[in-house]
Amino acid sequence: MAQEVFDQVQLVLREIEGSQPRTEDELEQFRIRFLGSKNIIKPLFGEIKNISNDRKKEFGQLINSAKVAAENKYLEINEKLEEASLGRSVEAIDLTKPGFPIQRGSRHPVSIVMNEMIEIFSRIGFTVAEDREIEDDWHNFTAMNTPEDHPARDMQDTFYLKNSVTRLLRTHTSSVQARTMTAQKPPIRIIAPGRVYRNETISARSHCQFHQIEGLYIDKEVSFADMKQTLLYFAREMYGVETDIRLRPSYFPFTEPSAEMDVYLGLADERSKKLTKGTGWLEVLGCGMVDPQVLENCGIDSEVYTGYAFGIGIERSAMQRYNISDIRSIFENDIRFLRQFVSA
Ligand code: PHE
Repeated sequence: MAQEVFDQVQLVLREIEGSQPRTEDELEQFRIRFLGSKNIIKPLFGEIKNISNDRKKEFGQLINSAKVAAENKYLEINEKLEEASLGRSVEAIDLTKPGFPIQRGSRHPVSIVMNEMIEIFSRIGFTVAEDREIEDDWHNFTAMNTPEDHPARDMQDTFYLKNSVTRLLRTHTSSVQARTMTAQKPPIRIIAPGRVYRNETISARSHCQFHQIEGLYIDKEVSFADMKQTLLYFAREMYGVETDIRLRPSYFPFTEPSAEMDVYLGLADERSKKLTKGTGWLEVLGCGMVDPQVLENCGIDSEVYTGYAFGIGIERSAMQRYNISDIRSIFENDIRFLRQFVSA
């Protein structure tokens, strides 16, 4: 009895070894017979209980080798057939056809808007100056006429580096003004794009990180009128040729006089209404004449030179341009959000 089942397994094993499926159909028949859910090896496993103890192990191994042989043969033939069919299709490929399109990456909406602004200022002679995001207290605050205990430090609370009260994440790109003025002699005409940080609660409208472009122009006899004309040029390039601007008096420790610039988006559509809180005017930047004290702090003679500076927030323009309602989506890097800018 026992020998009979041994022989049966041997027969199956030989059958497996002897089979040579040549087509996909034949291979499928092979699979069903030896590996399918009702394969012919399965019932043989059930015979183990009828085998005497001293031959159980031997039987188990034999039957297992049949199963492994079937699996190996299947994989081997399958691979051969696949190769063959690939070979056939390679012959059929038309090499003159255009390739499959490769999905392109996309620029981040902040980069798109930032590059556009850089481009606009480059056309009138501003060059790009970039500098560090981890700043020291002097360049971010003190040089910019915001000494310790100045209330303006409260408005720009930031993140300090561990074990250091003097190293911080810059709160504005104005720190690059100080960096540039201490390193270069006037005339200076730069823009400084980059990321800035503030210790603020994250919400749909504000974030602890965002981007700015700083502008700085220092020369002899630079006037407020020069600044206004430059900013009007910027607004019209960026928001449309008919765009109106207005300068509202404001306060910054490092400029005197200071202003905030709004551009007129109008109230024609719901989006502009919402974005401008029903006024039609969107605030886009802070600006002013560089305070003589700042020039002196950076080693520039304020009797000889004057200048203006401005700082543009980038997120707000990006949100306006692309109808983004929540600033958080700008920093989440959700691929579904980013893909929308592929062709931009
Ligand atoms: N640094 C100011 C801010 O972050 C903007 C600004 C820059 C204002 C330059 C005037 C001149 O709010």
